[in-house]
Amino acid sequence: MNLSLYGPPGSGKTTVGKLCARLMQCDFVDVDAHIESATGSTVAELFASEGELRFRARERAAILQLAQRDNLVIATGGGALLDANNRTALEASGPVVCLRASAATIRARLSGDRTRPLLQPAADGELQLEQLLAQRQQLYDSFALQLPTDGLAPQVVAQRILAEALAWQPPRQNESSPALLLGSGALQYLPRVLQQAGLPLPALIVTDTNVAPLWGTALGSRLGVPVCSVPAGEAHKTLATMRLLYDAFLDHGLERGSVVLALGGGVLGDMAGFAAATYMRGVRWINAPTTLLAMVDASLGGKVGVDLPQGKNLVGAFHPPALVVSDPCVLATLPPAQHAAGLAEALKHGLIADAALFAELPAAAPLPRALLQRAIQVKLDIVARDPLEHGERAKLNVGHTIGHGIEAACGYTLPHGFAIGIGLLAEAQLAVRLQLADAALPATIRARLLQLGLPVAQRGLHAQQVRAAMQRDKKKQAGQLAFALPRAPGLVEYGVHANDADIMAAIESVCT
Ligand SMILES: NC(=O)c1ccc[n+]([C@@H]2O[C@H](COP(=O)([O-])OP(=O)(O)OC[C@H]3O[C@@H](n4cnc5c(N)ncnc54)[C@H](O)[C@@H]3O)[C@@H](O)[C@H]2O)c1
Ligand SMILES: [Zn+2]
Repeated sequence: MNLSLYGPPGSGKTTVGKLCARLMQCDFVDVDAHIESATGSTVAELFASEGELRFRARERAAILQLAQRDNLVIATGGGALLDANNRTALEASGPVVCLRASAATIRARLSGDRTRPLLQPAADGELQLEQLLAQRQQLYDSFALQLPTDGLAPQVVAQRILAEALAWQPPRQNESSPALLLGSGALQYLPRVLQQAGLPLPALIVTDTNVAPLWGTALGSRLGVPVCSVPAGEAHKTLATMRLLYDAFLDHGLERGSVVLALGGGVLGDMAGFAAATYMRGVRWINAPTTLLAMVDASLGGKVGVDLPQGKNLVGAFHPPALVVSDPCVLATLPPAQHAAGLAEALKHGLIADAALFAELPAAAPLPRALLQRAIQVKLDIVARDPLEHGERAKLNVGHTIGHGIEAACGYTLPHGFAIGIGLLAEAQLAVRLQLADAALPATIRARLLQLGLPVAQRGLHAQQVRAAMQRDKKKQAGQLAFALPRAPGLVEYGVHANDADIMAAIESVCT
């Protein structure tokens, strides 16, 4: 893929572009310089001799040609992306980052450059630079990837681009785990991503009724791929919805070699993945999670399935997607409650293996990229060591034995993450009763849940109902519930058995 830099003159496209190219060990191309070396004339000379229209045609040809190549850092001239075709071509070839800078910064950076007419006052006395920035503001704002550069050294800007904007391959993935691409704007250049992963365009995009109007329909029309949407929400994570998916797969002529793209939260991903696992004994699928919860948890690890009226996820399979494409840009439309629900699973990952993440996780959206990566890494590391849950992977169930019981007892009306947060607290109480954890642990967890805007108890919940729902938990061993219990931030013990009185007391502690 390529990385393209855009922005006003003086935003640092060339300087930063060269640094990015060095860090990425690839070639740098400045579109203007490319045209100058091909024609032997400067841009100013070309403007004067052949006029702007002819120059723009040259520019278009150069951009289309560069966008076909790979592994380039491309800096585009300030006017280049006024042409929507140029923008589409570059966005299809990789991330396009818009560098921003204030007029004062631009003036300071370009002060020694006498070839810049923009820095001179216009005939009417207005300042040309300010006029240009105002005219193009809407265009600059329309890029998903923005980077303010005021007061930053070019090296810092280049590093931020690599860390924040670019596709990221987690460093410690197991060879058998699916490829994961975490990059803001990644859905923009999906065709290129698929090409590099050796995957065809999906035959069908599966999404839910909330995500379809926000992201699904637009993605479908951009890719020229049909979109099927199913009812949103955990209450629809059922065999009845699976039937809708199988019907859609057949209606759209999906064959064994076809690929399905799931675009949605954990509910949609679990169902679309299970449909992909079972349709014609298995077709490949791509998971594009659209909730924080799905990015940090549900999209990773290959578990797919649906609920039965008797309990959560009782029917399912291990069927990892061929590729996970996580584009944090889609989280912009996530309701605050769903953001909080995602934080509950991120907090769980901190509790399991990253005490600093547990302590530092902030409530505000968006979750900073570095913390998102850390929350993801905890799960990737565990799944890499124990993909089929023969041992340690059971740690990921912390909070979930009681949490799933709460979800079922509430008739699946509570967001999954909320139930898990309450489950973490209840299971910390159980750990204290079993003398596995310090007496202060529940209060520590409770305080973190409250800080993150998560509930710490559920009104109207009947402990007996929760307990009854837990009897159908998948995680039983020889008929006995096997808990994963928190011992301290960063430390969880799995395979723990408890007697009924302790379990009931723990559940009652979160029922009000
Ligand atoms: N497979 C696994 O390993 C695994 C792990 C954790 C959780 N899960 C499952 O994940 C499910 C919970 O996932 P979830 O919290 O993502 O639920 P969800 O899929 O129901 O999404 C939550 C809500 O947000 C909406 N939504 C999704 N993306 C949006 C966006 N970008 N903007 C606006 N609205 C959006 C959805 O339509 C839905 O109403 C549970 O069923 C749980 O069992 C699975
Ligand atoms: Zn969960």
